[in-house]
Amino acid sequence: MKIIVTDQAGEVHELEGLEGWRVMEVIRDWDLNIKAECGGALSCATCHCYVDADWLDAVGAPSDEEEDMLDSVGDVKSNSRLSCQILCSDALDGLKLTLAPSAAKD
Ligand code: FES
Repeated sequence: MKIIVTDQAGEVHELEGLEGWRVMEVIRDWDLNIKAECGGALSCATCHCYVDADWLDAVGAPSDEEEDMLDSVGDVKSNSRLSCQILCSDALDGLKLTLAPSAAKD
């Protein structure tokens, strides 16, 4: 499956995602500008991204715990998600998202 990621500089990257992997892991392994400090443990919010409007339904709503973490970042929007909480699947083939400024490494 493909994931289309726009980074903080506005550059668009087409990444190959593997079924069952966290979207954050794919972005990190392709060496884009994502901190993902806690490695997917839902305790840092540095994997913050904005899901394209066309994909919000397919991705589904965040859990209460994820929403609590998102509340801790200053650049949260209505389409904010933590990319470590989205699993790659065929249903998300073509998923489009943008990395949030708060996910940047430095
Ligand atoms: S990597 Fe820390 S919450 Fe996603």
